[in-house]
Amino acid sequence: MTQTQTDTRILDVATAIETRVSVRQYVPDSLPQADLERILELGSKAPSAFNAQPWRFVVVRSEAVKEQLKAAAYGQAQITSAPATIVIYSDMEDVMANAAETAHPGMGEEGKARQVETFQNSFGAMTVEQRAEWANAQSYIALGFLMLAARGMGYDTVPMLGFDPEQVKTLLGLPAHAKIAALLPIGKAAQPGFPQYRHPLGRIVSYK
Ligand SMILES: Cc1cc2nc3c(=O)[nH]c(=O)nc-3n(C[C@H](O)[C@H](O)[C@H](O)COP(=O)(O)O)c2cc1C
Repeated sequence: MTQTQTDTRILDVATAIETRVSVRQYVPDSLPQADLERILELGSKAPSAFNAQPWRFVVVRSEAVKEQLKAAAYGQAQITSAPATIVIYSDMEDVMANAAETAHPGMGEEGKARQVETFQNSFGAMTVEQRAEWANAQSYIALGFLMLAARGMGYDTVPMLGFDPEQVKTLLGLPAHAKIAALLPIGKAAQPGFPQYRHPLGRIVSYK
């Protein structure tokens, strides 16, 4: 299986990982809404500390907004080439204000109260910026899930950090305290990406 194959068989996780490469040119209109929603749903299954789920996703499909997003990303053309770009950001103030909703229903009212207390104890004394950084780190787990979910369903992506976060926040009407983890253009490859090139395990793994 190569990254340019266009069938929509569900790939096993290892194959999705082995065939995921960054793609920067896309086939127009190559992302049906139902598949996009499934990918978003799978991305939302990412784990997070305390089950905080601080990530939020804005899907940019409008051509006009894509043009503006591209300008905020220093003209990177993959944004207008892809049928959609998912903006992954975190909103830890929203999490703090609604901590009870992240408590597992199985834990009942007592669990909700405990969850609120946990968030107050863990983050209440931090600055908004410090806890935003914490939430941003959690959101990268969702980014990974989104990329592999997309690849697993036969789609391609490219994670992007090359953008001006203040411009993107203004464009999308995000709160000032939001942290943007990445932009993620998504669709089917029109041109294959570069083959993967990674360190051998001997360079990055040690055993004690
Ligand atoms: C957090 C992050 C930010 C990145 N930002 C950009 C970007 O702004 N523009 C771009 O073209 N690629 C970007 N990339 C893609 C990397 O260049 C790419 O993942 C890396 O070279 C490995 O190649 P592969 O994804 O094809 O395996 C980014 C990747 C990550 C993980």
